[in-house]
Amino acid sequence: MRDPGLIELAPSILSADFAHLGEQVQQAAEGGATVVHVDIMDGHFVPNLTIGPPVVKSLRKATDLPLDCHLMIENADDFIPAFAEAGANWISVHQEACIHLDRTLHHIRDHGALAGVVINPATPVAMLSEVLDIVDYVLVMSVNPGFGAQKFLPNSLHKMRQLAEIRTRRGLSFRIEVDGGVPLDTVAEIVRAGAEILVAGNAVFGKGDPKTNAEKLLKAATEATLQKV
Ligand code: DX5
Ligand code: ZN
Repeated sequence: MRDPGLIELAPSILSADFAHLGEQVQQAAEGGATVVHVDIMDGHFVPNLTIGPPVVKSLRKATDLPLDCHLMIENADDFIPAFAEAGANWISVHQEACIHLDRTLHHIRDHGALAGVVINPATPVAMLSEVLDIVDYVLVMSVNPGFGAQKFLPNSLHKMRQLAEIRTRRGLSFRIEVDGGVPLDTVAEIVRAGAEILVAGNAVFGKGDPKTNAEKLLKAATEATLQKV
């Protein structure tokens, strides 16, 4: 899965206009977005309620881009088959919500999706030591999950550096995704810390044209990658 140096933008549709979801995603894709981030919230694991498999199914018909479903739900095992069937290509679950995380990650893979594990701001990277060799990507939350347009929490930067260091030391291949409050003026620092997949909701769909917003974010991120070398 991993292509070192590849930076991808994954707009989060949570901040998009749901009445025009297909067009909004298309505009972001024209701006260079290559993944669509889909926030699934159950009103229990997080204090908000969003969407389920039916919306993923509709989105599947509106774009060929990979659908990156971020499950902020308590009983992920029960819903993984339905999301995979609806067209999810990547499925991530929270370490804090999965008692049998190893089984859940294999369950995702058994349904043909890439498996990701997510950690909240208060959860240390050390909690993932036993699953880093079975995941395709690690999602570092840079806000407390549940809402878009929150402020980026800088303590997530050292987690990305830690993950990049562990990956090299253990010869692993997971990718590093960051999610929450990723603004244009900090994206370079985030990429230099090791993030390769950048989730952005408000920065893409908040105001202005999603195409132009996506282009600006990707330009800043790619330039930071060149500086890193
Ligand atoms: C928050 C979600 C994020 C959020 C990102 O719980 O997981 O994906 O939608 O949106 P911004 O970039 O606006 O913080
Ligand atoms: Zn998310």
